Amino acid sequence: MIPEGFTCLLNREEISRRIDELAVALRADLEDKPTTFVGILDGALFFMTDLIRALKLDVKIDFLRISSYHGSTQSGDLKLLSGLTWNVADHQVVIVDDILDTGKTLSFCIDYLKNLGADTVRCVVLLTKERQQEYVVTDPYVGFTIPDQFIIGYGLDLDGRYRHLTEIYAMEEVK
Ligand code: IMP
Ligand code: MG
Repeated sequence: MIPEGFTCLLNREEISRRIDELAVALRADLEDKPTTFVGILDGALFFMTDLIRALKLDVKIDFLRISSYHGSTQSGDLKLLSGLTWNVADHQVVIVDDILDTGKTLSFCIDYLKNLGADTVRCVVLLTKERQQEYVVTDPYVGFTIPDQFIIGYGLDLDGRYRHLTEIYAMEEVK
């Protein structure tokens, strides 16, 4: 089931424990005002679900669907495949994504949500890669900083596959 050349980087317990910690940090920082969590599909699917349940706050949930990757290489331009259902004007918004790599996706989403009138826009990602981001995303909440390797599982895909894996796997370095 796990493709050849991938090894486990984070197991279910590690992921779950860290999500609980992120929920505590967010609960402490969020203000008592209308709040919408915006998940970036498809990758944020499982992280969004587990985070929202751990958060135990009365927040609205919405999604943006963005496509940016083909296989294990970056395609270049982003496409907004579907937009929000709810009005986020004057809301405090928290964007939820699986991974922050170059920062292109999140900075695009931050601008998009600010243009819709969001009052504040925070970002929370389960993973970020060690390398320097090309696009600025200010002070994201980060679950784990990981080596600059291609990752699958827990929402992250390779050509649309392996999102269902409950653990996170990294592609081994080719020597
Ligand atoms: P960024 O725009 O370069 O920050 O990339 C963010 C998006 O690319 C994420 O939402 C992921 O869906 C996807 N992505 C980045 N790195 C990986 C990876 O290692 N595996 C699978 N998807 C990735
Ligand atoms: Mg994604």
